[in-house]
Amino acid sequence: MKVALLTGGGDCPGLNAVIRGVVKVIDNAGGECVGLLEGWRGAMEGNHIPLTPAVTDPIIDKGGTILGSSRTNPFKNEADADQVVETFKKLGLDALVAIGGDDTLGVASRLYHEKGLATVGCPKTIDNDLSATDQTFGFDTCINIVMEATDRLRTTAESHRRILVIEVMGRHAGWIACYSAIASGADYFMVPEREVNLDEMLRVLQKRRDGGKKYGLVIVSEGAKLNSDGGYVTKDQEVDDFGHVKLGGIGDHVAKIIESRMGVETRSVTLGHLQRGGTPSAFDRVLGTRLGVHAGHLVLKKEFGKMVALRGTKIVAVELKDAVDKMRELDNSFFEEAAEFLK
Ligand code: F6P
Repeated sequence: MKVALLTGGGDCPGLNAVIRGVVKVIDNAGGECVGLLEGWRGAMEGNHIPLTPAVTDPIIDKGGTILGSSRTNPFKNEADADQVVETFKKLGLDALVAIGGDDTLGVASRLYHEKGLATVGCPKTIDNDLSATDQTFGFDTCINIVMEATDRLRTTAESHRRILVIEVMGRHAGWIACYSAIASGADYFMVPEREVNLDEMLRVLQKRRDGGKKYGLVIVSEGAKLNSDGGYVTKDQEVDDFGHVKLGGIGDHVAKIIESRMGVETRSVTLGHLQRGGTPSAFDRVLGTRLGVHAGHLVLKKEFGKMVALRGTKIVAVELKDAVDKMRELDNSFFEEAAEFLK
């Protein structure tokens, strides 16, 4: 059995653990693995490398993905999707494990349903916003990075009696902002799921100051919306292959509003891709490994068109189609718990 793996979309810590898991299971069963390079681009062009346990055993602690990634969409032009089918034939592949977010998994689902390719999915995103899985690997490492950064920003904010606005990732969902706000004791946080009330934020920040706390920390999701028209606050309007606009800029915007309306010196920091880089946490290594092992088993059982997912503490298989149909927003109960500290 010959199995290809690819990683698509934004990278995140833990991808290499998944790759290592799949390769080990397939190798244990006497099969062979190859890695398609740079996401669906590699699948279209047939660009690949051999993957053996000797290659993948030492990568458990490495961030990013040894296969490279891209946001290439083979369904942007139908001919490109047919190129993937060609690669399958040319390389003599029996199956493909696609590790990625909703865009990558959406392509894997379409290749299975529309082109008959034997695909299995494995969910990843630091945003933690994929439905059908309780948590995605990469998220734990990410919130620890944000927490550490915010702890550092607290000391300088306190020294200068400033307010610091920290912009974090989270295009559609506020999991990163909410968890980081709880973990770092922020004074306010904003998420894409809830209408932002700037007057309320200013009231809370002023209350803290009046109460003797001479600095403030505000965490804002890149995808939070401040305008009544519901549009993103961004620096540019560039879009990727899947039509997503490049986000970034809301933190700066919020800092300017705070400074002008409160008269308090305010700075903003965009954590950006720092949140996706570096060594995965133990949690993400374990989750990634478990998902990889189960994805390998799905391939061996020929259960295609499916995705591995975390449900409670167990890894289960769900239909790829159902998994990518809908996004997992920040659970209201998490927001309400965190909101106790926004008063
Ligand atoms: O992978 C998800 C994500 O990290 C989003 O939170 C963010 O908006 C986006 O990727 C950034 O993508 P890129 O790496 O292409 O700038």
